[in-house]
Order: sequence, then C-alpha cells, then structure tokens
Amino acid sequence: MRTQVGIVGAGPAGLMLSHLLHLSGIESVVLEAHTRQYVEERVRAGVLEQGTVDLLVETGVGARLKRQGLLHNGIKLSFGGKRHRIDFQDLTPGRTITVYAQQEVIKDLIQARLDAGGEIHFEVSDVRLDGLDTAAPAIHFRNSRGEQKIACDFLAGCDGTYGVSRDSIPARELEVFERAYPFAWLGILAEAPPASEEPIYSHHERGFALFSMRSPQITRLYLQCAPDEDLAQWPDARIWDELCTRHAATDGWKPAVGPILQKSVIGMRSMVAEPMQFGRLFLAGDAAHVVPPTGAKGMNLAIADVRVLARALAEFYASGRKDLLDQYSATCLRRVWKVQRFSWWMTSMLHRFDTENGFDHRRQLAELDYVTGSRAASMSLAENYVGLPMEGLLAL
Ligand code: FAD
Ligand code: PHB
Repeated sequence: MRTQVGIVGAGPAGLMLSHLLHLSGIESVVLEAHTRQYVEERVRAGVLEQGTVDLLVETGVGARLKRQGLLHNGIKLSFGGKRHRIDFQDLTPGRTITVYAQQEVIKDLIQARLDAGGEIHFEVSDVRLDGLDTAAPAIHFRNSRGEQKIACDFLAGCDGTYGVSRDSIPARELEVFERAYPFAWLGILAEAPPASEEPIYSHHERGFALFSMRSPQITRLYLQCAPDEDLAQWPDARIWDELCTRHAATDGWKPAVGPILQKSVIGMRSMVAEPMQFGRLFLAGDAAHVVPPTGAKGMNLAIADVRVLARALAEFYASGRKDLLDQYSATCLRRVWKVQRFSWWMTSMLHRFDTENGFDHRRQLAELDYVTGSRAASMSLAENYVGLPMEGLLAL
C-alpha cells in the first residue's frame, strides 16, 4: 500500500487531519487500534471552543453539531457558598462555547471520511513506524489479512497519550515536561435533565465538583477524588449526596438526580513532548501533550494542532515549500504552552490539595474572588476558555 500521509489514531486529531487533507486534495490512510463502535461510543470531552465549532461547520461536518450542540454564553464559578457568572458574550465579546460530545464529533468525521471514499482501518495491531528520518517513511501493522506495510511521504502520530508514535522517536531527540496532580475525577453520565443551562465549577472544602451536560436529557458530572479511588465505594446515592454538598450555595440550586448510566475515574496530568516533530513524523493532539480536563481544552488543542499541520502539508504539496512544516512544532508549542498554563491555573485554583494549609486555602478564595470580581481577570478567563486565536494560521 502507498499513501501521501499515514495517520496513526482515529481520535479527533487523526480524523480531522484526514478530513482537512482530503479537502486539499491530499490522500491519507488512518489506522486505528479499536473498533469503529468503540471509538464512536467512548465517553470523553464535551466542550468545543468557538474556533473548533467554526472549523467543523466551515469544512462541512457541522450539520448535526448545529442542530444538537448546546450553545453556552458563560460558565458559573461557586465558592464560599456563592455562585458567580462569567459572561463570555460580554467579556470576549460575542464568543461562545458549545457542548457537543466528543464521540459525536468522531461519528461525524468518520461518516464524512467514509462518504468521501476515505480509508480508515479499524482493529489494527502491532503498529510500527519506520524510516522516520528518511524521505521514505512507512507504517507496518497487522490486520485480519496479516502483516501490512504502507509507504508514505509523511506520518502523523495522532495516537493519544499511550500510542506508539511518541515512543518511536529516539529518547535523546525528545524532551518531556510533566506534572502529576495528587487527585483524579470521578465522572458520571446521568439520565437527568441539566438543572443549569451552563457548566458550574464548584470550589469546596471537600474537594472540587463540576456540573456539565451532554443533551437536554443527559447530565455529565465530576467529583474530585483520589487517583486510586475505588468505584465500589461509590454507590449512586453517595455520589448524588456528595455532588449536592459540593455544589451547594445560598441560591439553593441542586443538580437533578437520575439513573447513573456510566461511572469512571479520570486521571489528571500535564505533559508536553518537545519538539512535536522528528524527521517525517509529526505528533499531534494527546500524543504530544496532555492537559488536566479542568480547562476543557484537550480535544480543542488536538484540533488546533492538525489545523496547523494540514495547512503546512497543503503548502508543501502545492508549492514544495517546506518552511511551514519545519515551523510546525514551534507554531503549535506557543499555543500548547498557553493552554497548559490555563489548564494548570484552573486546576490549581479549584481543587483541594492534601498539602494545602490555611494560607493556601485563603489564597485560592482570594483568587476566585478576584477572577469573579475584576473585569480584567474575568476577561482573561473568558478569553482562554472560549479559545485563544489561531496565531500560527493568521500569519500565513
Ligand atoms: P485520542 O482521542 O486519544 O485518539 C487517539 C486514538 O489513537 C484512539 O482512538 C486510540 O484508540 C488510537 N490508538 C492508540 N494507540 C494506537 C496504536 N498503537 N495504533 C493505532 N491506533 C492507536 N477535551 C476538551 O477539549 N474538552 C473537554 O471537555 C474534555 N473533557 C474530557 C473529559 C474526559 C473524561 C477525558 C478523559 C478527556 C477530556 N478531554 C477534553 C480531553 C480529550 O478527550 C482528549 O484531549 C482528546 O481525545 C485528544 O484527541 P486525540 O485525537 O489527540 O487523541
Ligand atoms: C465535560 O462536559 O465533560 C467537561 C466540561 C468542562 C470541563 C471538563 C469536562 O472543564
């Protein structure tokens, strides 16, 4: 087999890259370890930045998103028993976020690729990358028909945190920056109508809690918990009690209770691998960087990376210009580090740390008071939450 760009991973990064390349007349093949059903049902992100929504709509994969996505003009922050609204429309101005589940984005992209005759191989195994620092890189893998090889011009490592692409780069060529957090999130999906129109981030002495939603019938909620939390210790009634306690404020608001459809523990860490390129292999999305979910940025950052990569590859195939490909890592990393900073800051401001003392606790409350009380500080949060401008692309 032969293609122009071999893509490992059918997550948001890999599928969006394949879609954008197709629109520029560039061929690609996507290889995915799991089944189509598995990737279309995997419960993950839900908050789309305005720029992500615009891209999906402008490139023809936004029809369902426009019908079913829930548009939000703000979020709420709760602390010290009070709730405060951050009004994005007013502060950004006019920009919003949309709640639309990641697995729905995945379904839309897979359908668009297959309708356009695109090649996605599901359930592949033993993926191995070869010849990264030569002009003839290749991907080896195994499927139901046996050993396969795809010769490519370029490779895109879009295989998430635990994929093979990042590890295919010699360790001496890569610098990895990491931060672990001493807590995780217990996440649930519940069959209950969202009792608030907007996401609510609650700071509480028992730990952080987040209220979000997926549809007019389904709520998505999270509780700060231990990294090794045992879900067996969390019967449904305990989860609802804890959610109500941590979200309590003087306005008396409570999440609506309903059957819990899914429970999981979600780890939290920050990671950046630099540079995001080695020879003809380009890393994108979670394969290159991970953010804690508090800023709702992971999927958006994955999409931002592949926008830059697709543009650079299009320029290469159109005119032979290599400079945009050479700048890919530096262009992406400027945004990546700003998003890392924002995600770390939201996480640090809202969670309870075992090591914190009275000083730290009061400093957190002062920060929340400042963020909700100062227009300058609220604007900074809002500007980051709706998504920073795509600087690398504007310069082209
Ligand atoms: P992935 O989605 O991880 O896709 C990688 C793909 O590669 C997977 O399908 C995997 O099966 C495949 N793969 C791995 N190894 C191989 C291999 N060897 N061969 C072939 N295929 C392979 N982000 C947001 O923007 N907003 C949010 O609100 C948000 N909330 C989140 C909530 C939760 C609970 C979690 C877990 C994450 C959340 N995120 C959020 C983060 C977001 O889901 C990820 O950042 C996003 O999925 C990254 O996309 P990706 O394409 O880079 O990687
Ligand atoms: C979600 O809806 O899953 C969600 C919302 C906001 C976050 C993280 C996750 O910060």
